[in-house]
Amino acid sequence: MELFEAIERRHSYRGAYHDSPVPESDIRRIAQAGIQAPSGYNSQDTTFVIVDDRDLIAKIAAILGNTPVFRTAPLLIACIVEKEPQAPEGRMVFPIENCAAAVENMLLAATALGYASLWYDGSLRRKVAIRPSANCWASKRGW
Ligand SMILES: Cc1cc2nc3c(=O)[nH]c(=O)nc-3n(C[C@H](O)[C@H](O)[C@H](O)COP(=O)(O)O)c2cc1C
Repeated sequence: MELFEAIERRHSYRGAYHDSPVPESDIRRIAQAGIQAPSGYNSQDTTFVIVDDRDLIAKIAAILGNTPVFRTAPLLIACIVEKEPQAPEGRMVFPIENCAAAVENMLLAATALGYASLWYDGSLRRKVAIRPSANCWASKRGW
C-alpha cells in the first residue's frame, strides 16, 4: 500500500479482531518500522516488547480490561520508555516524542500490511507502573 493511502486508511479499531496469528515476517516488518523512527540525538530509547502469546495476552487483558480489543487481539506491541530519564550533560531527552514517532511508524506499517490497530495508552498509565504506549494489531485484512 502506498504511504498516503496508509495514512488515510489508518484508524483506531476497537472492535473484535480476527483470531489468526500475525506471521512473524509481518511482526518483524512492523517492529522494524518502529525501530527506524527518528529519535532525539538518535538515542533510540524506546523498548519494544512484542507479545503474541495467547495466554500472556489473556493475562494482560485481565489487568487492562475486558474490552473486545484485549480479548481478541493476537498481537500486542508495548512501547516502553523511561518516565524521567537522566539527560546526559548538555543534552535534552525526548522519550515520549521518540516513543510516539515509533508508534506512528508502526501503525502505518501495520495499516500498509492490511492490519487493523489501536494505539492504547490512556488507561495504561493508571493501571501499570511503567510509562507505556501499547498497540494491538490483528489480522483484520481488507476492512
Ligand atoms: C497518545 C495517544 C493515546 C491514546 N490512547 C488511547 C486509549 O487509551 N484508548 C483508546 O481507545 N484509544 C486511544 N488512542 C486513540 C485515539 O483515541 C484516536 O487516535 C483518536 O480518537 C483519533 O481516531 P483515529 O485513530 O481513528 O484517527 C490514543 C491515541 C494517542 C495518540
